[in-house]
Amino acid sequence: MADFRLPKNSRITKGKEHKADASAKRVKKLKIYRYDPDIGENPRYDNFEVDLDECGPMVLDALIKIKSEQDSSLTFRRSCREGICGSCSMNMDGRNGLACTTAIEDIKGEIRITPLPHMDVIKDLVPDFTHFYAQYSSIKPWLQTVSTTPSGKERLQSPEDREKLDGLYECILCACCSTSCPSYWWNSDKFLGPAILLQAYRWLADSRDEMTGERLDQLEDPFRLYRCHTIMNCANVCPKGLNPAKAIAEIKKLEAERAL
Ligand code: SF4
Ligand code: SF4
Ligand code: FES
Repeated sequence: MADFRLPKNSRITKGKEHKADASAKRVKKLKIYRYDPDIGENPRYDNFEVDLDECGPMVLDALIKIKSEQDSSLTFRRSCREGICGSCSMNMDGRNGLACTTAIEDIKGEIRITPLPHMDVIKDLVPDFTHFYAQYSSIKPWLQTVSTTPSGKERLQSPEDREKLDGLYECILCACCSTSCPSYWWNSDKFLGPAILLQAYRWLADSRDEMTGERLDQLEDPFRLYRCHTIMNCANVCPKGLNPAKAIAEIKKLEAERAL
């Protein structure tokens, strides 16, 4: 059988052990990926024991406690602490999600935490979103119009047309879906991935937007759109309960309809 091994400098080594106080009764172990490109060492897993009687209920609470009390160099993103900003996306126990809305008690045994898969790592749990945001910018995520309205008048939308944006506008661009998509892992240089395609459909579905043809021209490409093979990981993992695969199917339908 073939034996595949990572290059020497990519192999994850055993890291440091951080014990909880001897008096702690409910101890949870977190095994956390650590990597600092500035010190030139291999990535490692550090183990931290956290006293759950002295910690909030979410994985993010445990990370904040570790950073405050055990290792201030632990690096991760967070802001809102309520599933709105999308900053704290990471992989917990093999599943992408938001650390602030993932309950510690929902993960049995030790919690292994790594950055979102298949992204370059800036440090520890912080992935590099530069390419993801460039792809977002490429779909022109804003209302584009050619007609004019009388001065001071808003572009109105019926309640029925507004409803068509439900399930799309809630996306917080956390990238949990794109980084769980095998097609995106292998082709992220050209495939836009589920998050960006859901955002692209959000503007195609907006009754006020007048650039539908141009938007569809830009998406019609064997890689940008059609690398989605309906594997559905994206819909399974979205922490906001959205369905990017359905949005992608709607774009493909629009492309097919205009080709008739
Ligand atoms: S449905 Fe498409 S976008 Fe979603 S995970 Fe599968 S291949 Fe990726
Ligand atoms: S569709 Fe869901 S998982 Fe994907 S970026 Fe938006 S909120 Fe995150
Ligand atoms: S901190 Fe904002 S989504 Fe988790």
